[in-house]
Amino acid sequence: MKKQSELYSGKAKTVYTTDDPEKLILHFRNDTSAFDGEKLQKLERKGMVNNYFNAFIMQKLQAAGVPTHFEKLLSEDESLVKKLDMLPIECVVRNISTGSLCRRLGVEEGLDLDPPTFEFFLKNDELHDPMINDSHILTFKWATQAEIDRMKELTFKVNGLLKALFADAGLLLVDYKLEFGRYQGDLLLGDEFTPDGCRLWDAETREKLDKDRFRQGLGGVVEAYEEVARRLGVELPEVSA
Ligand code: ADP
Ligand code: CDP
Repeated sequence: MKKQSELYSGKAKTVYTTDDPEKLILHFRNDTSAFDGEKLQKLERKGMVNNYFNAFIMQKLQAAGVPTHFEKLLSEDESLVKKLDMLPIECVVRNISTGSLCRRLGVEEGLDLDPPTFEFFLKNDELHDPMINDSHILTFKWATQAEIDRMKELTFKVNGLLKALFADAGLLLVDYKLEFGRYQGDLLLGDEFTPDGCRLWDAETREKLDKDRFRQGLGGVVEAYEEVARRLGVELPEVSA
């Protein structure tokens, strides 16, 4: 598989074309961003940890019947994926109240959400990813009704699978964001599932082990990601002294 030209460089990953028109390479960089790119920092090892973390989760999901773009790990910070026609939509499920839900609705932090909430956001940094609903998606033709239904079905399926996976590792899956894209008539899970795009709390202490450590300046960001990886059994390369 030969890397060709840079297709897109986002806030945390760079996407490259390959000699196969159906495949892309995702390069997980150490760049970390929050608040729609306002806060930026390079965090040593983050690209590598997220690449392995994402591969582990995507393979679990694929094996459990969630179709994903993931093909294989290529190097410490690169993975091969199917090239998707990404929908400009973010799907967010929440099991515990925190973050923008509390700011928007004035609800208390840390409530168990039963049933979990589901929200769509438009992927648009300039507009600060506004919340949208099914009606906006249909009117502006960002996706079809069948795709809306499929995104909801798959995002909730992921919730069932990953809540259990994280619970077994002593972690609470608080909330997370997924992105989907079209591939040969199907909708596949794309982008990434890493602690950059979800919230994970220690089940006993409720210590934050995700990107909120970066957003809130708590320090130990990559160390927290590595702790989660270790608890899940993700194999990371040895750190050279
Ligand atoms: P952002 O664009 O939000 O800054 P990233 O830095 O993570 O995010 O950039 C990765 C980009 O690649 C995202 O825009 C994402 O939608 C896109 N992407 C992820 N997976 C695929 C895929 N399989 N095919 C095409 N594009 C993808
Ligand atoms: O982070 P913030 O409080 O602004 O947003 P949120 O709506 O509470 O985020 C819900 C979940 O989606 C969190 O796990 C975020 O990490 C994730 N998310 C993301 O990965 N990318 C976005 N653009 C927005 C949210």
